[in-house]
Amino acid sequence: MSFLAASRLGASRRAFTPLVAGFHTSAPAKLATPAPDAPPAPKPKLLKTFQIYRWNPDKPQEKPFLQKFEVDLNACGPMVLDAIIKIKNEIDPTLTFRRSCREGICGSCSMNINGGNTLACLSRIDRDPSKVTKIYPLPHTYVVKDLVPDLTQFYKQYKSIEPFLKQKTPAPERENLQSIADRKKLDGLYECILCACCSTSCPSYWWNSDKYLGPAVLMQAYRWMIDSRDHFGAERREALQDPFSVYRCHTIMNCARTCPKGLNPGLAIAEIKKDMALDG
Ligand code: SF4
Ligand code: SF4
Ligand code: FES
Repeated sequence: MSFLAASRLGASRRAFTPLVAGFHTSAPAKLATPAPDAPPAPKPKLLKTFQIYRWNPDKPQEKPFLQKFEVDLNACGPMVLDAIIKIKNEIDPTLTFRRSCREGICGSCSMNINGGNTLACLSRIDRDPSKVTKIYPLPHTYVVKDLVPDLTQFYKQYKSIEPFLKQKTPAPERENLQSIADRKKLDGLYECILCACCSTSCPSYWWNSDKYLGPAVLMQAYRWMIDSRDHFGAERREALQDPFSVYRCHTIMNCARTCPKGLNPGLAIAEIKKDMALDG
């Protein structure tokens, strides 16, 4: 029942009761005053230990270390990001991390939680208090501070693939139309939020991130190559014809395993390689 319907029903009950009572007695019956709601009993504490990577660029003489924090899970939201925010708000305001949307859309809160790259806002806290949750920045990245990775190279590479529509004909007066079938080809590609979880879990990217573009950027390169409205597919593939940009992918598939959006960059890379082979 909607809130509006419920409140209407309540109003009609209140009007109806004295009228029935008045039929049997001369004085209208009085409504009993409900007792005020008793406050809910506080939940017992459920303390969980988090160990979080700390490094402060303002204290370069101090080595990075893991700092222990205890959080009462019964006074905290369900996700790892909730715990980190609680720690920052209530225990240590110097703890540094990125986040924005807290619902898996912005890609800011990517980090390594218990050994896997993922989004803290989509990662449920394991409520077993005997298990420590360990949190590190994305692996094989330079660290700006604590859990904040330096993604300068990642964005530079993203820029290099020209991630926007390019056409050889004059721009149409209205929208660039696309058939439903052509639009469907972009499913599984356009949803990428550029969180970099995949690229920073890829061993090839760890060792060659200066020259290998990595899974996230290559998947976006493929997204533009197969867009029916784009006229530069062949040139986009040609730009990747060197031993490193694409061919450092050895189909290890860590990328697909770790993607918090359930995407498969390894498959997109395989498609690029196939199309490049067909280009001759
Ligand atoms: S499939 Fe390619 S891109 Fe994905 S993890 Fe393996 S080497 Fe990296
Ligand atoms: S493919 Fe997945 S893991 Fe990689 S950047 Fe996009 S959303 Fe993140
Ligand atoms: S805060 Fe935006 S993806 Fe997690």
